[in-house]
Amino acid sequence: GKVVLAYSGGLDTSVILKWLQEEGYSVICFIADVGQDEDFNAAKERALSLGAERVYVEDLKRVFVTDYIFPAIKANAIYESRYLLGTSLARPCIAKRQVEIAEQEGALFVAHGATGKGNDQVRFELTYYALNPSIQVIAPWREPRFFHRFSGRTDLLNYARQKGISMPSGEKPPYSMDENLMHISYESGDLEDPRSPGSESMYKKTGRLEEWAPEPEVIRIHFRDGTPVAVENKKGEREEDALQLFLYLNRVACRHGIGRVDIVENRFVGIKSRGIYETPGATILRCAHLDIEGIAMDREVLRLRDMLSPKFSEILYYGFWFSPEMDFLLAAMNKAQELVDGWVDVLCYKGNCMAVARESPTSLYSDKLASMEEVESYNPTDAGGFIRINAIRLRAHREILKKVDPE
Ligand code: ARG
Ligand code: SIN
Repeated sequence: GKVVLAYSGGLDTSVILKWLQEEGYSVICFIADVGQDEDFNAAKERALSLGAERVYVEDLKRVFVTDYIFPAIKANAIYESRYLLGTSLARPCIAKRQVEIAEQEGALFVAHGATGKGNDQVRFELTYYALNPSIQVIAPWREPRFFHRFSGRTDLLNYARQKGISMPSGEKPPYSMDENLMHISYESGDLEDPRSPGSESMYKKTGRLEEWAPEPEVIRIHFRDGTPVAVENKKGEREEDALQLFLYLNRVACRHGIGRVDIVENRFVGIKSRGIYETPGATILRCAHLDIEGIAMDREVLRLRDMLSPKFSEILYYGFWFSPEMDFLLAAMNKAQELVDGWVDVLCYKGNCMAVARESPTSLYSDKLASMEEVESYNPTDAGGFIRINAIRLRAHREILKKVDPE
């Protein structure tokens, strides 16, 4: 049968490509460009040289920004209070296109190179099944015939040598990376010991610590219905295109070292895992977005939305992007963002960003109400009754405490 393989160009998926052929499949390779730093032509040539029937290199950068990253920003998505979900967002984006290619090619099978212990297998496969209920999945890292044969990296390298898989030489870093235009995640290998920090030379998207810009920088981000629509700086540079403005924010954040996180997190499968992340532009965006909500969003809508954000993040992390519960939450989040318009100035400096000024055409803020000035709609003498009525329960409670325990 025909199988569409999510191919990265790396050693693992190259071995998988050859192995699938040995198992009797004809293999179509799908390389997703989600903004990772990769030589796509070289990867395509490698797949062809290894006998791939056909190779698709698909540019998913724009759709990744507009259909995945921006909705997550609107929801203030963050997993376990720290991880901005860069890999969790990319997986459904990649898997969706993979299923489309399988359908186009009349392939009954899809395959991926995620391990049997992680989140990514779940995300890929839930997306496949959600979008094509009859698709059949091959996950070699869960196939005994595969993983017994390739129990270590040397087995992979030996097989590669034997099959003429030429990998670009050069040091393989002592950890695993997942990169896209939103983030890089680093885990496993040397990072499995949570007592030791990642080495400074590991970081790619947040510059070198010693080189973080010596001067602060202020950038202005404009929102419309909670979606970023423009970014500009004091020098008159301006980007309005969704992809370009996101990449612009990445460059600013990189200069100032913004977006590093080093955590131990809970995987869906029940394992704790140590991960380091660099999420430059999205860290600035989240900061600005929270701030524009502060001025433009109704308090009770904000409260409800804040209850839903952790659930949204968990659903996303667990791989249920295409699910009835996520459809429901996305609709709710969009509704909550309808009046979230305006701009925020964000100051970036030495690993930090903070909102320092904002303005909104849909602002609910009134300096007259907030100040001591007299206004018709707020009579300070009303506040006394408001407080006494709120105190009714508290007084009753105190009386009861006195009765049960007179001391
Ligand atoms: N722990 C993160 C997550 O589950 C990152 C996973 C990285 N994936 C990878 N194949 N290296 O979203
Ligand atoms: C993997 O296991 O393939 C990477 C880590 C993860 O998916 O959580």
